[in-house]
Amino acid sequence: MSGHEFDMVVRGGTLASAAEVFEADIGIRGGTIAAIGRDLPRGAEEVSAKGMIVTPGGLDPHCHLEELGQDGSVHEESFSSGSAAALAGGTTSFICFLPQWKGHTLAASAPGYETRAAQSRADYSFHQIITDPTPEVMQREVPALVARGIRSLKVFLTYDPLRLTDAEFIEVLATARRLGAFVTVHCENYDAIGWRIAALLKAGLTDPISHAWARPPVVEREATHRAVALAELVDQPIQVFHVSCEEAAAEIARGRARGLKVWGETCPQYLTLSHDDLARPGFEGAKAVCSPALREKAENERVWRRVQDGTLDVVSSDHCGFSFATAKRAPGGGYGQGGASARPDGTPAFNAIPNGAPGIETRLPVLFSEGVSKGRIDLPTFVRLSSANAAKLFGLAGRKGSLMPGADADLVLWDPDAERTIRNADLHHAIDYTPWEGLAVKGWPMVTIRRGEIAVRDGQVLAQPGSGRFLARGPYALATPTGRVPDGFDAAGVL
Ligand code: URP
Ligand code: ZN
Ligand code: ZN
Repeated sequence: MSGHEFDMVVRGGTLASAAEVFEADIGIRGGTIAAIGRDLPRGAEEVSAKGMIVTPGGLDPHCHLEELGQDGSVHEESFSSGSAAALAGGTTSFICFLPQWKGHTLAASAPGYETRAAQSRADYSFHQIITDPTPEVMQREVPALVARGIRSLKVFLTYDPLRLTDAEFIEVLATARRLGAFVTVHCENYDAIGWRIAALLKAGLTDPISHAWARPPVVEREATHRAVALAELVDQPIQVFHVSCEEAAAEIARGRARGLKVWGETCPQYLTLSHDDLARPGFEGAKAVCSPALREKAENERVWRRVQDGTLDVVSSDHCGFSFATAKRAPGGGYGQGGASARPDGTPAFNAIPNGAPGIETRLPVLFSEGVSKGRIDLPTFVRLSSANAAKLFGLAGRKGSLMPGADADLVLWDPDAERTIRNADLHHAIDYTPWEGLAVKGWPMVTIRRGEIAVRDGQVLAQPGSGRFLARGPYALATPTGRVPDGFDAAGVL
């Protein structure tokens, strides 16, 4: 016994919660927040937050770590390196993906994945990707997963070999509804993209910028409209992942205005990067290949407006661990679509570049700088976007993303005046580039506290591999009849 009421007191900071900003100390006991108030008694450990803004630790509900693709692609980010990067960037917990390989059961698709995830330094949970909703998977394996706290499913409406047909998507929505699980969706039209890719390659247009021409906003808008409509048909809540443009966001807003349970996520890349990055000379544009594709520069501000009006209420990283060196070897695969064609200099054509950018460490500094420091959003909005809304959607409310007694003591001390230039050499991830190289940011996470322990101080990661905990996620409220179907339809087991 130390004789102290608190194991740690974070003293004298400006606290920012999802609702308000106020001055107070935080007393921590047993890894959770025990008290919030002025002039708390001394703790066994004292952390000065003078001049700092104290937010809940970030929750990144969409990142890809150590995934092993059916196409042979490997995300080169390990749980140890990815979680070190997360903590250094102010993210104390994340949700990544259990893969399903087409033609395989869930059990046969990700051997050892959960054991590898246990190497995480940050707290973690999983969404289950569904690429092949067979009766065995949907009636036996998914209920067992939900029962042990893996309560969200992820589906793709594009990509080879991951995408679902509409019939399969409906099957996933209906199963999720029965089980009280949540569904997240990658919305792009597979056939439209395939048609554009073939035409671009035929015309010899192979540079990375063609990735954007292959996937214009209309392919995202159409699939978003379809996903919202099918979710309405089944009366199943969904979140549309990584919304890149106003056209898709408007489909979500329209659904919400009609009372549908549909949410939208975006990512820093869609708020800050553009065609200009894809069009960098030579093969440099490959560093900005992600799907949906980056849009014209003017679109960034339109996406910000949808963040400001609440249509897009979660900002995730969609962190992907494909290095630039790997992309140059033209492996095809890795969330790609359309085979392994090449540019005249031997580097891969746009459609053979693995999709996705690394951003688990830069997510919050970029959001803080471009959002809070530039006056686009206030601090409570920053907290809602970076942790609190995801905690609510994904079954972690009250535990993560909250500055309330009883919540996990996951805290970030931000110096709002610190100025940094993002350099890959300073980041903790295992990837050989960042698409934000050279970006000047204002506001930086100086100290990250995970469950009452200092996990990062001044860029030095102290949390050890294996110290993160699996987050089993509690039950969602059971779906209730909405009047969209006749009485007795539910009871008859149709849905
Ligand atoms: O380009 C992206 N977004 N890659 C990651 C996979 C996905 O679509 O989430
Ligand atoms: Zn996606
Ligand atoms: Zn993703």
